[in-house]
Amino acid sequence: MSSEDARRWDARHADVDHVGPLPPDALRGRSELLPAGGRALDVACGRGAVSVWLAQRGFAVDAVDVSAVGLAALDGVPGVRRVHHDLDRGLPDACAGPYDVVVCQRFRDPSLYSAFVERLAVGGLLVVTVLSEVDDEPGPFRAGPGELLAAFGGLDVLTAQEGNGEATVVARRP
Ligand SMILES: C[S@@+](CC[C@H](N)C(=O)[O-])C[C@H]1O[C@@H](n2cnc3c(N)ncnc32)[C@H](O)[C@@H]1O
Repeated sequence: MSSEDARRWDARHADVDHVGPLPPDALRGRSELLPAGGRALDVACGRGAVSVWLAQRGFAVDAVDVSAVGLAALDGVPGVRRVHHDLDRGLPDACAGPYDVVVCQRFRDPSLYSAFVERLAVGGLLVVTVLSEVDDEPGPFRAGPGELLAAFGGLDVLTAQEGNGEATVVARRP
C-alpha cells in the first residue's frame, strides 16, 4: 500500500469516535458458533471493535492493520496484541497461528484467502464479510458472485450469504 493510502486510512480512523466492542457482523445472534477460547486473528482490524469483543470472550487476539491510528485505539486492551503490517505483503510472519478464530470483515484481498485457511486450527472458525457485486455495482473492492464459496467451500460451511452488496461466509475447518 502506498504511504498516501495508509495516511488516508489513518485520517478515516482519526475521524471516528469510540466504537465497540462489537461481534463480527456475521456472528450477530450466532455467537454460540464461537469456540470456547484460544487464539484469534482479526485481519484489517481497524479500530479493533471486534478484537476487543473477542478478547472479552477470553481469546488471545492478534489484531493486524496498516493504520497506526486505528491500532492506537487498542492501546492497553488486555488480551490484544497489535500488529502494524501492510497486508499487501501477505499475512505477517508474526501471525503464524494456528488460530481458533480468523475474522476478516470489510476488507477484501483474495490473495490472502488460502492463508486464512492455512492459519486456522483444526476445528477453528473462519468469519469473512466483504463487499459484493451481487445486487450492487461491480468494482475493484467487491467480490464477484460465488467468490467466498469458491475460496472456502472446502471447509464446513455453517452459513453463506450473498446479496445487497455484501457477501459473508462462516465456516469451520474440519
Ligand atoms: C473498512 S475498514 C474495516 C475495519 C474492521 N475490520 C471493521 O470491520 O470495522 C478496512 C481496514 O482495512 C485496513 N487496510 C486497508 N488496506 C490494508 C492493508 N494493505 N494492510 C493492512 N490493513 C489494511 C484499513 O486501515 C482499515 O482499518
